[in-house]
Amino acid sequence: MPLKIAAGNWKMNGTAASLGEISALGAALPDPAPAVVICPPAPLLFRAHEIAGPLRITIGAQDCHNDTEGAYTGDISAEMIADTGATHVILGHSERREAYAETNDDVRDKIRAAWNAGLTAILCIGESGEDRAANNTLDIIGGQLAGSLPNGATAASTLVAYEPIWAIGTGKVPTLEEIIEVHDFIRDRLTQRFGVETGSEISLLYGGSVKPDNAETIFRAENVDGALVGGASLRATDFAPIIAALARS
Ligand code: PGA
Repeated sequence: MPLKIAAGNWKMNGTAASLGEISALGAALPDPAPAVVICPPAPLLFRAHEIAGPLRITIGAQDCHNDTEGAYTGDISAEMIADTGATHVILGHSERREAYAETNDDVRDKIRAAWNAGLTAILCIGESGEDRAANNTLDIIGGQLAGSLPNGATAASTLVAYEPIWAIGTGKVPTLEEIIEVHDFIRDRLTQRFGVETGSEISLLYGGSVKPDNAETIFRAENVDGALVGGASLRATDFAPIIAALARS
């Protein structure tokens, strides 16, 4: 069985004052709890890890450079992220693919860098509203998966998050059937490429407007092993009920 995982993507939100949300979340976790990963902005990684350590919560970053060090003003390497105690890094988020023109090749190189530093990559893939309207969803998903996931993926090194771009931060959520169709498709592609044993162990997360009131329904789908949550991960009072729904699923 793939590991159940709830990952929170704080994006460019939060200062040191927000770290209390991690403590509050730790206190509100069900027992047993699924794996919980909080991905705060990079300046908070060290302190977030110190706070999360005793709380059954792990910490992730939101991006990394594909090189290990060098003259890349403003960038951070996977080694630097691992050095903070963080264990995960989100890569290929649609906001980076769009705003920074990150290609599948770029994302693939970054995932390799993450693996080399011992980090688990959370690979994001997802179609735009136009792609879905034109019935191109599975083509886009298949292309992103083939293009941005390097050979050698394992369940320990890789999570795949399906995030329809039109559902991110909009309050719009695909129907359960639409989620099931894409997640089943991703599962098939992973087992074809990496073998049944590995392909069926890689956790598949759904992301895009996951909230306390829709989480239960989303987690009903067989190949949904967790969620990548943006807005609703910023407050423990919103994220805890989502994690509880995952624990019950
Ligand atoms: P959202 O963001 O939950 O705020 O829609 C999800 C994401 O971008 O990972």
